[in-house]
Amino acid sequence: GQPDTRTPTGAETGAPPTAFGQQGAYLTTAQGARLRDTDHSLKAGPRGPLLMQDHHFREKITHFDHERIPERVVHARGAGAHGVFTSYGTASNLTRAGFLKDKGKETDVFVRFSTVLGSRGSADTVRDTRGFATKFYTDEGTFDLVGNNMPVFFIQDAIKFPDIIHAAKWHPDREIPQAQSAHDTFWDFVSLHTEAQHHTMWNMSDRGIARSYRMMEGFGVHTFRLVNDAGETVLVKFHWKPKLGVHSLVWEEAQIASGVDPDFHRRDLYDSIEAGAYPEWELGLQVFPDNPEETFAGIDLLDPTKIVPEELAPVQPVGKLVLNRTPTNFHAEVEQVAFHLGNLVPGIDVTNDPLLQGRLFSYLDTQLTRLAGPNFHQIPINRPHAPVNDMLRDGFHQQAVHAGVAPYKPNSLDAGNPFPTEENAFVDVPVVVTEAPKVRDLPVSFKDHWTQVRLFWQSMTPIEREHIIRAYTFELGKCYEQAIKERQLQCLANIDPVLCSEVATGLGLPAPAPSIELPEVTPSPALSQIGQEWPGD
Ligand code: HEM
Repeated sequence: GQPDTRTPTGAETGAPPTAFGQQGAYLTTAQGARLRDTDHSLKAGPRGPLLMQDHHFREKITHFDHERIPERVVHARGAGAHGVFTSYGTASNLTRAGFLKDKGKETDVFVRFSTVLGSRGSADTVRDTRGFATKFYTDEGTFDLVGNNMPVFFIQDAIKFPDIIHAAKWHPDREIPQAQSAHDTFWDFVSLHTEAQHHTMWNMSDRGIARSYRMMEGFGVHTFRLVNDAGETVLVKFHWKPKLGVHSLVWEEAQIASGVDPDFHRRDLYDSIEAGAYPEWELGLQVFPDNPEETFAGIDLLDPTKIVPEELAPVQPVGKLVLNRTPTNFHAEVEQVAFHLGNLVPGIDVTNDPLLQGRLFSYLDTQLTRLAGPNFHQIPINRPHAPVNDMLRDGFHQQAVHAGVAPYKPNSLDAGNPFPTEENAFVDVPVVVTEAPKVRDLPVSFKDHWTQVRLFWQSMTPIEREHIIRAYTFELGKCYEQAIKERQLQCLANIDPVLCSEVATGLGLPAPAPSIELPEVTPSPALSQIGQEWPGD
């Protein structure tokens, strides 16, 4: 019942944003004045020089000069699409978030897929992790699920993010390679910082080269906390399951695709939507009791380098995502979209995963630069579809003409109280923060860097193992420093002796003995035992 103090911009009403350009009967300046000639600049005579007073020339060139915005510091290369999320209603006992709870409820979404390391113009089919970021424009505010196509991450603490990215992106001197092909800095880091070994093996596996965005799983990676209507909580991990199944390219296919069509995934996404073959995923949850230890089956749920096997906690489907509309304008939508893990709705809360906690800072911080100031939530693709009535004012590129004189609280001037707070809003779950000392340590449970990598390796079929061995051998073969290859071989020895000896053979180096005690496991068959030739082709 309180008056909205903002001038509607479309954000408040959920109305589609105003479209600009290429609509009128005649060409105009940015100020709407009709133009007679846009092909010739104003000169002192036909042989020049140019006249400073040619405002049309200056407007046209100045605007062009500023067309590019900084590419994302990571995930610069991407493609996006609009769609709809439909809830199955199966999560109604777990969360009060309406878009998940109410059966049949439809919510608009925008999804951006990406590679991590390459620049904006890099090829799609490189060996890399893929981003899978979803913006749910819910009635209760925007919820962003900013995930990847792999369920684990290289690091356990966000303070290491600049380190892994500096190690994996281009060399500072000559700016190659763009993609994550092996080079000394990457293998140097992951062999020294062994918590990265699990994610690295996912990258070396077939999952590292997706066949299509439509055929990728997505993972929220971190554990989140859901809250239901009764205030009860559970811990969950989010999973996207593609309707078309998970498929990969083999290395040689990926190489050919990079050369013949660097836009392979982008084209596939847009072509399939325009052909009416809408990409689909089911959203699912792994659900764990919210116990004070935040563990499940002995696995620390706050450690983003660990998964919980689906055999132990099956993924329960809670809704369906269909992508059914391509962007109208790449820059306006795919480039300018800004995701943030802190964009939460009542019923979904974060946990203390130290990687997640750091991400909560990083995205807004980088977007303040990338999108030039604090008002990028007013860019059409970022506008909530829920009504907005905030006390944020002014700043660069302010789009709203705010009415009212008292954007503060409490106030007695703007119709008494223009900013009533809402009992039904987001409530922070009162998780107990004990008398813990201030430390820079991680829990002891985070220190096991080997068990789950071994589990991943052992879950692979023979042909998948062959691909992994070939990927390690090829990528490590690109290193110049012998000591780095040897250190990574030591890591492989701690994972599986056969994996280590096959890669060592391929590299022409001796296989080291494990430096830790290995558990009793069925030995992996050597490549020769699974009918494969090694080394070489
Ligand atoms: C961008 C996922 C860890 C910083 C992205 C994007 C995705 C993503 C999908 C692309 C968003 C888009 O399409 O616009 C993840 C996942 C992580 C992770 C799943 C771990 C589980 C981190 C960490 C940091 C970080 C630890 C920093 C402490 C960034 C930044 C961007 C980004 C700065 C660029 C955002 C922008 O310019 O809009 N991440 N990320 N990420 N991520 Fe992460």
